[in-house]
Amino acid sequence: MPLLEDIQQILAQGLEKLHAAAQTDALEQWRIKYLGTKGVVKAAMGRLKEVPKEQKRAAGQAANELKNALTDAFERHRARISAGGSTKTANAPAMDITLPGKQCRIGHTHIITQTINEICEIFARMGFAVATGPEVEDDRHNFEALNIPLSHPARDPLDNFYINPSVMLRSQTSTVQIRTMENTDPPVRIISPGRVYRPDTVDATHSFMFHQVEGLYVDEGVTMADLKTCLDQFCKTYFGSDIVTCFRPSFFPFTEPSAEVDIEFNRPDGTKYWVEVGGCGMVDPNVLDGVGYDTEKYTGFAFGLGIERLIMRKHHIPDIRLLYESDERFLHQF
Ligand code: DAH
Repeated sequence: MPLLEDIQQILAQGLEKLHAAAQTDALEQWRIKYLGTKGVVKAAMGRLKEVPKEQKRAAGQAANELKNALTDAFERHRARISAGGSTKTANAPAMDITLPGKQCRIGHTHIITQTINEICEIFARMGFAVATGPEVEDDRHNFEALNIPLSHPARDPLDNFYINPSVMLRSQTSTVQIRTMENTDPPVRIISPGRVYRPDTVDATHSFMFHQVEGLYVDEGVTMADLKTCLDQFCKTYFGSDIVTCFRPSFFPFTEPSAEVDIEFNRPDGTKYWVEVGGCGMVDPNVLDGVGYDTEKYTGFAFGLGIERLIMRKHHIPDIRLLYESDERFLHQF
């Protein structure tokens, strides 16, 4: 075999065998075999005289490089072994620490979490504390204590995820109103953001799981005017000071009177349309009574807003499913 090819093979094999030598005596044997006076490298050097004249220069250079490469690798490997370190990378090329590192994309909180934080901040400025409640809820907190009787259609098994006849995934964050009032004497002023579950068919505006933020304020002398001011202020802070809100009479079993909150938007052609963002009302005295509050002394307001609706309106997101798909191209915009 021509010397040049031989040299390449000696180098490859030599490095491989060097890597395999994990102990000092194996290393010494390797040194004698490759770098010793009667070793493989010396033998290759000796063959230089057989090389035709015109190839001598290249072959000589290759033989020198072989010697240097194996000697260097040997020294590094020996240092690594005597330091007791791993032998695996002993002959790896030196690391160039001046090269730029790999770019890692830094994650950030999801737009839903960002919005929940923002909502909590806005209401915190109005004196609301954050309360939480379980997502697996009992019938009492999801319905009964909220003045929703057994015969009410909202309890329909087709409209709820029941785990057994009296335990379910909560269908509304209004449950936290009850849990808070059961454990706290008035006055209370809380908001409670969280997930709710309903077996709706998934489409651009519906999902079987979504987020609501519940609000509750009970104290002496709380009125519907306070409710309107509070929600109007929230909408103006979240959407911008020129947003117009409208309170449309409605019905909820746990509030009397009840209203739906709409906000006004402009279409590109200048016409206006209203979007409902949640429900609200004055807490029904039956609910206050049920948790032992003195209804002669205390009144309160409550509201529940759909978080996805708020996000979709503010950021012009046409399809709710985009919020759950974890598509980075979408999420990185927020
Ligand atoms: N829980 C209602 C729903 O999921 C929303 C709601 C309406 C909450 C009126 C309230 C309220 O606190 O007062 O549709």
